[in-house]
Amino acid sequence: MESFQGESRPHARLSRISSHIQPHHKFAEEKADVDMQQCRAKGAAPGLKVAVLGAAGGIGQPLSLLLKINPLVATLNLYDVVNTPGVTADLSHTNTSTVVRGFGKEHLDAALEGVDLVIIPAGVPRKPGMTRDDLFNINAGIVRTLCEGIARSCPKAVVNIISNPVNSTVPIAAEVFKKAGIYDPKRLLGVTTLDVVRANTFVAEVIGVDPREVSVPVVGGHAGITILPILSQVNPPFTFTKEETEYLTNRIQNGGTEVVEAKAGAGSATLSMAYAAAKFADANLRALRGETGVVECSFVASEVTELPYFASKVRLGRSGIEEIFPLGPLNDFERKGLEKLKGELRSSIEKGVNFIKGK
Ligand SMILES: NC(=O)c1ccc[n+]([C@@H]2O[C@H](COP(=O)([O-])OP(=O)(O)OC[C@H]3O[C@@H](n4cnc5c(N)ncnc54)[C@H](O)[C@@H]3O)[C@@H](O)[C@H]2O)c1
Repeated sequence: MESFQGESRPHARLSRISSHIQPHHKFAEEKADVDMQQCRAKGAAPGLKVAVLGAAGGIGQPLSLLLKINPLVATLNLYDVVNTPGVTADLSHTNTSTVVRGFGKEHLDAALEGVDLVIIPAGVPRKPGMTRDDLFNINAGIVRTLCEGIARSCPKAVVNIISNPVNSTVPIAAEVFKKAGIYDPKRLLGVTTLDVVRANTFVAEVIGVDPREVSVPVVGGHAGITILPILSQVNPPFTFTKEETEYLTNRIQNGGTEVVEAKAGAGSATLSMAYAAAKFADANLRALRGETGVVECSFVASEVTELPYFASKVRLGRSGIEEIFPLGPLNDFERKGLEKLKGELRSSIEKGVNFIKGK
């Protein structure tokens, strides 16, 4: 075992203090697992257990920091195939009550044991010129492996999928869970919160208000034209001109590309994505804790359209999704956008399903 929770005995504590004399980097070189965390794994109140898979990555690190400061997270398990000891040691120095534990490549099952919420940002990010679909082959295999671990170790956990292409990785996760006989569509959610966060920010710039006061539903999928902001339903209500609607829709749909190009080869959105994922995780955790009226947009198994998966507003509860809301009234521009996105979204979904079914 790489870690444990609870108070340590005095002599055990002394032996751990001596292990501390080693500099962190040396420790990380000498040991693949993070048993140094034993001496810090105490103090948290019983509560929710969260695992981040891909925790040492560009999204994983800031996301883990934001979860470490969330009082709803009692235990935070960090899993990655590289660099977990360093990230775990670093985060464990923050004096919040969350216990942080690290797990290396060989310890996926231990990282997932008893976990309530699993968040998956593992995979490769986009480079300039790549679409989210270009990531498919690498990330599809990673998501499959990680979901097989979830099926073995925490089949009742709520799962948040960040790894792209989300339009395909959510169906992949569903098929893995179906094969394992543990699929519950209420517990599988694709994270599209960054689209909503961008929509709220860009709209706030146009109408001149605080972005925290703006709420734009974003439906469909999570790539290019499959991202459909429903600007006619913005809150506070506002009537956009045709030019404003086209500018905003285009910027929201291509927000990811804006960041990929600005980073010029150094990856895709990480900080805004970590913020969005932490916000979505917090909503899931509050709902698991029994808070009512928690509503977020998410890409989920759905009957809102004829497609088997679709992003729309969902109400979260103690066991995941409790209600999926219909799209509500759309204007002409949005109706056309909806029809236009269906073909691409359908083929991305089928690509994910076929990856597991072997067609
Ligand atoms: N849903 C969204 O809105 C959204 C937004 C931005 C990025 N993303 C996606 O999130 C993913 C991660 O992006 P990033 O910028 O953090 O990439 P990154 O390369 O910085 O980090 C990915 C991490 O995953 C780890 N990893 C690789 N294989 C693994 C495995 N089998 N098990 C566990 N961990 C593994 C890597 O070691 C690395 O630490 C990408 O697929 C990216 O496209 C999604």
